[in-house]
Amino acid sequence: MSKGTYSFTTPIYYVNAAPHLGTAYTTIAADTVARYQRMNGYDVAFVTGMDEHGQKVADTAADKGMTPQDWCDSMEPAFRDAWDMLGITYTDFVRTTEPRHAVTVQKFWQDLYDKGWCYKGSYEGWYCVHEETYYAESDLEKNDEGELVCPDCKRPVQKAGGEENWFFKLSEFGDKLLAFYEENPDFIRPETRKNEIVSFVKSGLKDLSISRSTFDWGVPLPFDEGHVAYVWADALLAYLTGIGYGDEGERAGEFDARWPMQYHFVGKDITRFHCVIWPAMLMAAGLPITHTVFGHGFLLTKGEKMSKSKGNALKPADLCKVFGVDAYRYYFMSDVQFGADGSISMERMVQVYNADLANTWGNLCSRVFNMTKKYFDGQVPEVSAGVLAKENPLRAISDELYAEYDAALGAVDFTAAAAAVQKLAGRVNLYVEESAPWNLAKSEETAGELAEVIYNALEAIRIIALYMAPFMPNTSAEVFRRLSLGDIEAVTDIEAATAWGQLPAGNPVEIGDPLFPRLDMDAIDLSME
Ligand code: ME8
Ligand code: MG
Repeated sequence: MSKGTYSFTTPIYYVNAAPHLGTAYTTIAADTVARYQRMNGYDVAFVTGMDEHGQKVADTAADKGMTPQDWCDSMEPAFRDAWDMLGITYTDFVRTTEPRHAVTVQKFWQDLYDKGWCYKGSYEGWYCVHEETYYAESDLEKNDEGELVCPDCKRPVQKAGGEENWFFKLSEFGDKLLAFYEENPDFIRPETRKNEIVSFVKSGLKDLSISRSTFDWGVPLPFDEGHVAYVWADALLAYLTGIGYGDEGERAGEFDARWPMQYHFVGKDITRFHCVIWPAMLMAAGLPITHTVFGHGFLLTKGEKMSKSKGNALKPADLCKVFGVDAYRYYFMSDVQFGADGSISMERMVQVYNADLANTWGNLCSRVFNMTKKYFDGQVPEVSAGVLAKENPLRAISDELYAEYDAALGAVDFTAAAAAVQKLAGRVNLYVEESAPWNLAKSEETAGELAEVIYNALEAIRIIALYMAPFMPNTSAEVFRRLSLGDIEAVTDIEAATAWGQLPAGNPVEIGDPLFPRLDMDAIDLSME
């Protein structure tokens, strides 16, 4: 029985460049939630995709000497392959050039037009193509050459607009939005983002230009075909397409079951679009609003935002070659507090890898599996029902772990969830030290105690593998295999599955290669700068 639906999204990424560590970060976070909430009994929808329309993509294609459509088509494998490599289990991948998405965009804006939320007007202002946004002159900055530049990406802006366009009456939503934020304190997280948004809305909202007639790379507005939808008036709606909005065929009914969603995961660069424009569009349409927009921070290297354009962006594949996919996922999720900016470095990544994975989790498996081989012929020892029911220091932690972990991951505090599991792993290593199985093995009289210690350690490993699975799916599957357990991805009730004492006696245990061989910083020929 499913606990219900649990639906969320990453941004629909621009296809001007292939995925980098920044886009991978949001996507891995969403995947960690997807994998956990599936194990936790929810029916998960995880929507990602590619943002293909608009001036920026059209310009990129022109630079490459390709049509925009050919360019976008050529980028799809770059995204799909990167996500496959990272083990991303999205349920829909929306390309905004797909016909089904044009249906969404046209249906949605026709509805807003019919409801009187759109009008024709004109606006001229400073536009940043990279951010696909108009900026007020007072918000612009100057570069060293004295040119006016975008306050976000620091690229020169251009005068744009002037011609007739369609507008959405965003200015009418200021008070409604402020009341909505007040009544829904979880809508904008973390708290620091909320303050920015509230003061932005309080400063007064202008109507939003939602169409372009100077180029045709976009979805035509159904009520005025000479205009295409502005890229953000198109891309945000991909969240609806990804759960079957407007689909009257195979997916009929899915949208109603899944909307409103639990989360939109985005970076802080685009929280404004998600916390101001998007809820206003939904209010205008009479649709409920997503429970939480989580605007996480930036990954920084040497204090600067990582981005493709600054040339400081490593490819996820480069890091995976050194660390493996699981350690890559684990590092970004555990060491960069979701919400805050996080400095990343190769030194730190090696440090976390060696401390948490090589020395703690990997070492634990290796030593306990080895002792199982040595003392019990490579099989899970048998213990009495009395022993299984008994308190022990590992069980004491394990029994409290679901509540702690579930609360942390429900609130997308990946760092806290990972720390909670590490606490158990660290305790098992200590337990092995304290119990000294090598001494217990010396006499027949302590054979029962030896079995108990090894059983408890193996059982704790089984439980840790379950809780580590959302972060490190491959390693957990491998640990389950070595313990001769079933398919970990088939678990749909992690609370029940982590109840103490379920590891079957007699299961063959395989030692295998070290899960996380120690890494030496000096031997790594790769830099994040
Ligand atoms: O904004 N640190 O797409 P985009 C952390 N198409 N996250 C980062 C990052 C960094 N240094 N750099 C990028 C768009 N990101 C629109 C979205 S949604 C309807 C349309 C991540 O390709 C982060 O999630 O510019 C950020 O918000 C996103 O990539 C921007 O991706
Ligand atoms: Mg961007």
